[in-house]
Amino acid sequence: MEPEQSYRQVASATRRIRSLAPTDIPDILSIELTGYSHPWSEAIFRDCFRPDYRLWGLADGDGLQGYAVVAYLFDEAHLLNLCVGARWRGSGAGRLLLRHLIRESFREHMQRVLLEVRRSNAIAIDLYKTEGFVQIGERPGYYPASPVREDALVLALEGPEAG
Ligand SMILES: CC(C)(COP(=O)(O)OP(=O)(O)OC[C@H]1O[C@@H](n2cnc3c(N)ncnc32)[C@H](O)[C@@H]1OP(=O)(O)O)[C@@H](O)C(=O)NCCC(=O)NCCS
Repeated sequence: MEPEQSYRQVASATRRIRSLAPTDIPDILSIELTGYSHPWSEAIFRDCFRPDYRLWGLADGDGLQGYAVVAYLFDEAHLLNLCVGARWRGSGAGRLLLRHLIRESFREHMQRVLLEVRRSNAIAIDLYKTEGFVQIGERPGYYPASPVREDALVLALEGPEAG
């Protein structure tokens, strides 16, 4: 067995996805800081603990490896943040979280999952497209960046109940 394969199997046997709580914010922030040039603040995460949001964490034992933040708005689930700690990237964590939030969104009768992604974020775009997302638009200058703001691609995945 290849070492990479064996790591993935061990990792997935002990990993689980759970709802996050405000007590997870310190662990979330330490991952967030490794993930983005313009990370969310603690206040933004605190504001996400509301009834129409879902916050999912992928944990191995007590250790948080990654998380996803989803906002339900009418019948659309908007993926606002998906981030995996630098140590665990490329080990299937992002795909596990994405599949979970998609399954939960459709179970809760959302018609589609929507997200924005930086045009330059080839890894994330590849992940989303291999899970069936298609590009439905662009938002010019959506993201802060230096020296000029960066465009977002808008991707969507239609659910089984979409008419
Ligand atoms: C994007 C992100 C969430 C992906 O999570 P991950 O755990 O590293 O991804 P996975 O191991 O589940 O891999 C999923 C797919 O992503 C792509 N991918 C992952 N790492 C890659 C790499 N180094 N090079 C190219 N593609 C890669 C592949 O399509 C991969 O599928 P495969 O393993 O079948 O080839 C993670 O890289 C991350 O947190 N990045 C920083 C924050 C971010 O950009 N979030 C997305 C905002 S829209």
